[in-house]
Amino acid sequence: MSKVLTASLEWIDARFPLSKMWNEHLAQYYAPKNFNFWYYFGSLALMMLILQIVTGIFLATNYKPDADLAFASVEYIMRDVDYGWLIRYMHSVGASFFFIVVYLHMFRALMYGSYKKPRELIWILGMFIYLCLMAEAFLGYLLPWGQMSYWGAQVILSIFGAIPVIGNDLAIWIRGDFVIADATLNRFFVFHVVLVPIILLALAVVHIIALHEVGSNNPDGVEIKKNKDPKTHIPVDGIPFHPYYTVKDIMGVAFFLIIFSLVIFYAPDFFGFFLEKNNFFPADPMKTPEHIEPLWYFTPFYAILRAVPDKFLGVVAMGGSIAVLFLLPWLDRSPVKSIRYKGWIFKLALLLFLVSFFGLAYLGMHPPTEIRTFFARLFSAMYFGFFILMPWYSKIDPTKPVPERVTH
Ligand code: HEM
Repeated sequence: MSKVLTASLEWIDARFPLSKMWNEHLAQYYAPKNFNFWYYFGSLALMMLILQIVTGIFLATNYKPDADLAFASVEYIMRDVDYGWLIRYMHSVGASFFFIVVYLHMFRALMYGSYKKPRELIWILGMFIYLCLMAEAFLGYLLPWGQMSYWGAQVILSIFGAIPVIGNDLAIWIRGDFVIADATLNRFFVFHVVLVPIILLALAVVHIIALHEVGSNNPDGVEIKKNKDPKTHIPVDGIPFHPYYTVKDIMGVAFFLIIFSLVIFYAPDFFGFFLEKNNFFPADPMKTPEHIEPLWYFTPFYAILRAVPDKFLGVVAMGGSIAVLFLLPWLDRSPVKSIRYKGWIFKLALLLFLVSFFGLAYLGMHPPTEIRTFFARLFSAMYFGFFILMPWYSKIDPTKPVPERVTH
């Protein structure tokens, strides 16, 4: 048996660089030996991407992208298709878990300065992934054709209408109709199941190729490639990704799947956070829900949009709050990467940023009142302040010396 396998591998290797790729990206890819908890989320994000694609394919076998049939087809999946409920909950809970994983993955980069030279492109590619992920979630949310699907899309598409001169025509062009209608549902379906997943997959591959070109950062922010064994030319602080990190990541996956399953089986709507109550009612263009708010992963940006009195300027602020993340590698002027060696100013700034992000997330979930609008403005200012003031405070921050070798 092993002879047959070896011969098959040789046959393939003579025609396709399979072993070469395996070695380059796994068995002889040397990753820093001090990865911690925060380094689980890259592989978990990859797993979530695949899980969403697989469950999405099964859903698409019974879903009907037709304004008259969509809602009922989802009910059919939930009640009549064998294990349809499970596939659907894996996909809907999966969407929220995907965002949780990606937010933690991004926060890790923020803590350990993983976006800094030479990893700027990994970060930029990650930001494009994040944009695509938001587009994917927004498109998918229209498909069940519930009240929130309809009115949520209505609010977001009206944002395009706020753009001067071309706004109205642009919104009609995107919708394919004067209101959100069957044409909108059809195109959203195609983009959600074909276009955006292809882009996401391609970006994820390029993201990892870019990472393997420069090598992973680590919780110390030490460049392990600078310290190689003179004989073997292998980084002294590196260990082969396979088997060491493949095994470690499997443990992360196991732990993650336990939590994921608990939510799927015991709280699939997660108290309205993952599936909103209003979306269990079919879309009714004649009946506007009392409160329209997006799902939790969009609410920080939605709160920024609402914090600005002028609609167009609100759109600019919301766009700016995401665009500014692209600039992060050039805003951080600190001589050190990791939070472990940064000073109290950066730590305080990061804490305030977290407070503003969670504060905005909370405010975006609730209807505005005078006091809430005040806090939305305060938190928006703190959010932007974190980035805009970074070139200044990251320079004067009292940093500690970075060790030569990674610490354990
Ligand atoms: C589909 C979504 C994504 C997938 C599948 C993915 C995958 C990965 C993987 C497998 C790694 C290496 C393992 C690790 O460092 O945890 C990684 C590293 C990295 N990712 Fe992502 N990623 C995704 C989204 C993002 C986003 C949205 C950002 C930021 C905007 C980002 C920024 C980074 C950075 C900076 C690194 C290098 C980290 C380091 O070396 O310390 N990624 N990514």
